[in-house]
Amino acid sequence: MALRIAPSILSADFARLGEEVRAVQAAGADLLHFDVMDNHYVPNLTFGPMVCAALKPHARVPIDVHLMVKPVDRIVPEFAKAGASIISFHPEASEHVDRTIALIREQGCKAGLVLNPATPLDCLDYTLDKLDLVLLMSVNPGFGGQQFIRGVLPKIAEVRRRIDRLGREIWLEVDGGIKADNIAEVAATGADTFVAGSAIFGSQDYAATLRDMRSRIAAPRAAA
Ligand code: DX5
Ligand code: ZN
Repeated sequence: MALRIAPSILSADFARLGEEVRAVQAAGADLLHFDVMDNHYVPNLTFGPMVCAALKPHARVPIDVHLMVKPVDRIVPEFAKAGASIISFHPEASEHVDRTIALIREQGCKAGLVLNPATPLDCLDYTLDKLDLVLLMSVNPGFGGQQFIRGVLPKIAEVRRRIDRLGREIWLEVDGGIKADNIAEVAATGADTFVAGSAIFGSQDYAATLRDMRSRIAAPRAAA
């Protein structure tokens, strides 16, 4: 199974975003995770499609847009036009989840559904076979630098079981509080894609941090 690390630019230096995007890709990022917040669905405000479009020319890896906005449908085509490869949204932010998934895919983007720590898995019952990615939040959305919520681990294992039963490639991304000291456990529990913001952009050497994380997520597989 391919393993991917997606640095979240929420924790990057916003005064030098272009440089940060180039630096973290040179350090080995597999995806660029863009946390879009509207100060309505979550109590924080970040950036819109314009910033995504400005950074797109500097992106050599897919842009993984995490929409923490409500309503979500109107902004989907804007981010697709701005260069998003993956667009994930929270089911609570859409009146018609199936229609939003279809809207994302009609734009030519991969579609992801984002489950908050308290969101039950039953929202996957009639959507999992239409998704390219499930994004499990291991913090409550809105901020970087929060503590990993360990209660999410059984949820990761259950979603891994459901994806494996489906027998189709669906990425299982975990987002929030991922650090060097917990990423191996999260990988062993079944995640294959890891968002990390403060652990990477808060470090002195992005390449060393990514190498260390990659060695830790590869270990459980080697042992298996
Ligand atoms: C939180 C965002 C996360 C966050 C991760 O709402 O969705 O992507 O930026 O940051 P860290 O890795 O610092 O928890
Ligand atoms: Zn995120």
